[in-house]
Amino acid sequence: MRYKPISYCFEGRSESDKEDINIRGWVYRLRTQKDNIFLTLRDSTGIIQCILPRNEENEKITIESSVELSGKVVSDSRSPGGYELHDVSMNIVGLADDYPIRKDFSTEFLNDVRHLWNRSRKMQNIYKVRHELLKSAREWFDKSGWYEVSPPILNKSACESGSTLFEVDYFKDKAFLSQSAQLYLEAMIYTLEDVWSLTPSFRAEKSKTPRHLAEYWHLEGEKAWTNFDEILEIEEQLISYIANNIAEKRSEELKALGRNPEDLKKIIIPFDRIPYADVIKFLQKKGKNIKFGDDLGADEERLLTIDRDKPVFIYGCPKNIKPFYTKIDPKDEKMVLSADMIAPNGFGEISTGGQREENLETIVNRIKEEGFSPDDYSWYLDLRKYGSVPHSGFGFGVERLLRWICNVEHIRDTIPFPRTMKRYYP
Ligand code: 4AD
Ligand code: MG
Repeated sequence: MRYKPISYCFEGRSESDKEDINIRGWVYRLRTQKDNIFLTLRDSTGIIQCILPRNEENEKITIESSVELSGKVVSDSRSPGGYELHDVSMNIVGLADDYPIRKDFSTEFLNDVRHLWNRSRKMQNIYKVRHELLKSAREWFDKSGWYEVSPPILNKSACESGSTLFEVDYFKDKAFLSQSAQLYLEAMIYTLEDVWSLTPSFRAEKSKTPRHLAEYWHLEGEKAWTNFDEILEIEEQLISYIANNIAEKRSEELKALGRNPEDLKKIIIPFDRIPYADVIKFLQKKGKNIKFGDDLGADEERLLTIDRDKPVFIYGCPKNIKPFYTKIDPKDEKMVLSADMIAPNGFGEISTGGQREENLETIVNRIKEEGFSPDDYSWYLDLRKYGSVPHSGFGFGVERLLRWICNVEHIRDTIPFPRTMKRYYP
């Protein structure tokens, strides 16, 4: 028997043709009337209403059972997609137990049954956009001549702050789960020049916010012979490409999620660049209790971008709020050449990037200032000894990007099995 995807029932069909077809999937909705059962079937491509005669065998059917159906595609203007399946015969493949997810369940419960909740239309739409995002990113890097590389996840030293490290027993020694592939990408530019990676990153963040995960997917790039201004241009090109591409390819999913695809078509270069010092002044004017030298929190980032419709860069930050590898600004030694990209409409930081420090002594001192041991970084320091070149890079949080693009409230809804401070099950 040959089976068609549900989407086939709606494609290029005239009202008069009544094709006999076979489809299969899961029971999404059920309604029983006097003579008929109205069953809505779902598969990965869509949903369709199917009408079955009411009889003893068909009445056994339950929500989320897997079934194979044979019937006639018939035009019906009252039906959501304009077509239905009539005169249906059904083969039940896996009869489902009483499905635990009904309307009005709490967020907590839906997270407990995430393995089932992932079947919902909302999550299905998000995962399709996620797929498109990753595909677009890969396409952009490939078209632009960058090499994809595979950095390690179990490491001896930290890349970012020591306070968010996950420690792992490594054959009786101590290792850490990667927070960022950056240091390894920096090593790889000396062989491939323009490199990128997509890896899991781990942060033992002790914060329960709608934008923090303990495990997230990190999209990072590093480029040889590249300065600060050039890397910001690359970041904005990449994001513009991704947003425009998703708007074009996934407009139906976006609309269903409450994001107007037109919003994403407007994400075109250049993005505004605002100096950190101006951001502080702006926030002070808005009544925020913040001073030069403070890091920005979610509230501050929200205030800055709530009325914007494109991402914006905050650049030129004080060195105390940025990691050891950021390049000291040659014009002001208290500042570093680092920039955060902040998503519009209050969604907050989506990337950090910038130029990397090349001076060996400066890096060694800053590693010590952060409380790390330069011995753990001797391989990294070698990169400054053997043919060092100016270079820059960036890292985007895939789920942060999706939260903005899909317009969802909580970051956990952008990844199938979220890991947060309170949850690593299911
Ligand atoms: O700003 P971060 O810490 O910068 C780095 O890790 C650099 N080494 C990247 C680089 O230059 N290669 O992290 C980069 C991005 C953030 O802007 C954010 O989008 C995301 O990673 N991110 C998180 N996403 C989800 N949950 C968390 N706990 C995250 N922490 C960072
Ligand atoms: Mg950052």
